Amino acid sequence: MTTTTMTMTMTTMTERRRGVTARTRILAWILLLVTIAIVAIVVVTGRSLFSRADSQVAAELAHEADKFRAFATKPDPSTGKEFFTVRELLTSHLQHNLAEDNEMFFSIIDGVADRRSGGERIARIDTDPEFVREAASVTTPTSGSLATEAGPVEYAIIPVSVDGDPATGQLVIAEFLAPEYDEAWSTIWVMSVVALVSLMLAGVTGWFIAGRVLAPIRDVRLTAARITETDLGRRIDVVGHDDVAQLAVTFNRMLDRLEAAFAGQRRFLDDAGHELRTPITVIRGHLDVMSDDPEDREQTMHLVDDELERMSRLVDDLIMLARSERPDFLLMGPTDVTDLVVETFAKATALAERHWSIDETPETFAVADAQRLTQALLQLAANAVAHTSERDSIALGGHVADDRMLLWVRDTGTGIPDDDRERIFERFARGSSETRRQGTGLGLAIVARIAEAHGGTVRIDSTPGHGATFTLDLPWIDPKELP
Ligand SMILES: Nc1ncnc2c1ncn2[C@@H]1O[C@H](COP(=O)(O)OP(=O)(O)OP(=O)(O)O)[C@@H](O)[C@H]1O
Ligand SMILES: [Mg+2]
Repeated sequence: MTTTTMTMTMTTMTERRRGVTARTRILAWILLLVTIAIVAIVVVTGRSLFSRADSQVAAELAHEADKFRAFATKPDPSTGKEFFTVRELLTSHLQHNLAEDNEMFFSIIDGVADRRSGGERIARIDTDPEFVREAASVTTPTSGSLATEAGPVEYAIIPVSVDGDPATGQLVIAEFLAPEYDEAWSTIWVMSVVALVSLMLAGVTGWFIAGRVLAPIRDVRLTAARITETDLGRRIDVVGHDDVAQLAVTFNRMLDRLEAAFAGQRRFLDDAGHELRTPITVIRGHLDVMSDDPEDREQTMHLVDDELERMSRLVDDLIMLARSERPDFLLMGPTDVTDLVVETFAKATALAERHWSIDETPETFAVADAQRLTQALLQLAANAVAHTSERDSIALGGHVADDRMLLWVRDTGTGIPDDDRERIFERFARGSSETRRQGTGLGLAIVARIAEAHGGTVRIDSTPGHGATFTLDLPWIDPKELP
């Protein structure tokens, strides 16, 4: 395995692990929230079940006590006679009132547990001497709770006395909470099991769903990770129309722009290198064949100086073009457009002997970079000079209307063939009929960049053989609109 493939495999593994971690994290959060919700539901339900059991038992105690009080006011249902002794009353009540499974009633007579009525599943509190002793000492109706081996018990003790009978008695009513609590517990248990199973199902389903949802994002990420500077041609497969597909589309568009930018830069460097090589070759060629003859030397030095001057201009222009890509290329400010035209005109007339004139001045101000616009107009004027003869005329002009600002250089020179009109704005592009080697072919490219940076364009109107007009068509911004 080569180092590259090894690195790639390791990267892919790390990527995959990162994908899994993201999935686990999302899922863990969801499960945590669901678990909290389930626990809360179970706890709340459990509490209400237990408190319902408690109140049911309390109601049962009160009901049994009422039943006894009612029983005591009536004659003995078996004999039809009144009760003469405490024992008779309590025993008859216990005979007639049967305890349910979770209940136990018993009587205490003179401190001793007497009769009992009660289910099987309960603890024998009537045989607990301590409890019996305490219960026997009760003289007013009392209630309380007790812990037994059969679970918690709620009890009520009703003291009983019968006129004419010196014996003291108590009726103990005990309600065992265990059966009610058992029911509550089993409900909680069933709820918990159902919740746990649902949670597990949700977890497994969530794991697969999260995997499916995250898979396309992971694909995008993996492809993005695989794309390097030298391999900008790769694109992400766009599947479907969802957000992830949209993400892929956006990403691909970004790659298109990056690829174009890189290609542009590479072309720029190629072109610049190529253009610089020519003067270097010329200089070396002349230096190689230079003789000792002073006249020849002087001629060569003159030529070398010329070429170096050309190279220096070329480098300056290239730096200017590179700078034009930066956002701070322009220094915008309020500019007197008439001054701009008139001052540029004055500079241009020094270039060569021509019939120079000004067509029109706009007599207004605008927000613009005066220095760059002067540079552009001078560049156009220099071109006009290069393509005219002394008999020709060159005119500059400016006009502001409908929020547009037009600045132009018009000449009556050779004009531009239709085929050249777009091409000459490209870097290092010279006219097809060009024979001179003076120009670098960067002039119009710079003019176009200055216009574009102002938010405008450069137009050419030309009739070949009868001259050309280059117009900067820019948006006019009123300086009054400046904050
Ligand atoms: N006023 C004009 N009349 C006729 N042709 C023109 C005119 N202006 C420009 N051109 C053509 O456009 C080409 C490109 O012009 P550009 O200013 O970009 O380069 P250049 O003048 O050759 O070199 P540089 O200006 O960089 O020294 C010129 O070579 C020429 O053929
Ligand atoms: Mg030029």
